[in-house]
Amino acid sequence: MDLNEAIRSYRPCRAFKPQPIPSEKLRAVLAAARLAPSQGNMQPWRFVVVQDDERKRLLAQACPKGKPVAEAPIVIVAFSVEEDIPVTIGGYMSAYPLDVAVAIGHLQLAATAEGLGTSWIVDFHADKVRTVLGVPEGIHPLAIIPLGIPAENGGTLAPAEGRKSPDEIIAYNQFAW
Ligand SMILES: Cc1cc2nc3c(=O)[nH]c(=O)nc-3n(C[C@H](O)[C@H](O)[C@H](O)COP(=O)(O)O)c2cc1C
Repeated sequence: MDLNEAIRSYRPCRAFKPQPIPSEKLRAVLAAARLAPSQGNMQPWRFVVVQDDERKRLLAQACPKGKPVAEAPIVIVAFSVEEDIPVTIGGYMSAYPLDVAVAIGHLQLAATAEGLGTSWIVDFHADKVRTVLGVPEGIHPLAIIPLGIPAENGGTLAPAEGRKSPDEIIAYNQFAW
């Protein structure tokens, strides 16, 4: 699948088949995250690949809607190393989550191109995630990403409102809304 097709076909996947993921597909997905650009090439991301059923179960318990986390054959937890990115966006907003979000975007598109499903979960109890994975201070869990072969409908919800039209989100030369 080419990049454009992956962008167009990506939908969050919330239900997975129990089959394991071929290791070359997992490698391709992780390689895409590793190659993402970052501020000053600091690469302030860390990814913990969880395959152990007991840890997946505990991670699922850290999420109010943890079923996909328990069910997926692999769960990737993405972290940011805050001290690597001391800058702010425009002097007012901490920038450390940005790079990791870019890398997760790469990861999800690569997974789509490999025929795998992912979703992006930010609704989790950070303290529980820290305990389950042994995360030190200054490292922030940003996303829990279940990864696997999508079940029949992949648990995909119908888009409530689809996407905004270009006119609603793009303006030229001035902020026009
Ligand atoms: C930054 C980010 C955080 C998200 N967090 C969650 C989440 O915590 N739980 C969840 O089920 N989906 C989460 N999603 C998936 C979105 O809900 C989903 O992409 C959105 O509803 C659009 O769905 P569609 O692409 O199927 O139209 C997240 C997506 C992004 C980009």
